[in-house]
Amino acid sequence: MDGNGRWATARNLPRTAGHKKGADSLRTIMNACRDLGVTHLTVYAFSSENWRRSDAEISDLMQLLQHYLQQELQTLHENKIRLRFIGDTEMLSPEIQKQLAEAEQLTTRNNAFHFTIALSYGARQEITRAVQKLIAQGTAAADITEETISAALDTAGLPEPDLLIRTGGEERLSNFLLWQSAYTELYFTKTLWPDFGKKEFVAALENFAGRERRYGTAE
Ligand code: FPP
Repeated sequence: MDGNGRWATARNLPRTAGHKKGADSLRTIMNACRDLGVTHLTVYAFSSENWRRSDAEISDLMQLLQHYLQQELQTLHENKIRLRFIGDTEMLSPEIQKQLAEAEQLTTRNNAFHFTIALSYGARQEITRAVQKLIAQGTAAADITEETISAALDTAGLPEPDLLIRTGGEERLSNFLLWQSAYTELYFTKTLWPDFGKKEFVAALENFAGRERRYGTAE
């Protein structure tokens, strides 16, 4: 969800105004997913690297997250949406950690839609934690396989993404779902996240529908 800061700066607004508008875009895309039959959505809301932003911006983002969860949780639950959080969430305040755990707990049996929010997330860190977990469990070297690593990742149980969309014009993954996106189709758009609406989402899905996916095979 890249481009919130630039969206705000272009309007002489504080960066937080861009993040707020970004939260509105997220609501729009969630609804669009439901209309279009998309069943899984994972968003990169806060990266491991984002901890280097100013204290004020971090605090604003955390407040926005808390506010979003307070406002949306019941509706998400009523719509049978399962919420998950991936990333090094232990870095977050105890209050937010409690809120995340409660949201996951409340929605754990929901199955209509899988909404995952990456917070304090970095893919290299996730892979490192997964391997450390396997070793700590006493896993033999021969049992450290693609399957056991996948199952030890934060995304265990989720399917690998079909399509990864990055808004805001940069054409790189920036440490997002590196393991899981080995065969994911990538879609980059210059549109800033606050301007990314249903029309832009449909364009990305149509582009994806025209791709030929070979998963490394010759046919
Ligand atoms: C990247 O844009 C965006 C973020 C670091 C935050 C994303 C957060 C939201 C969309 C808020 C809503 C999310 C939840 C889960 C409530 P940037 O700030 O790097 O923009 P720039 O590249 O233009 O500076």
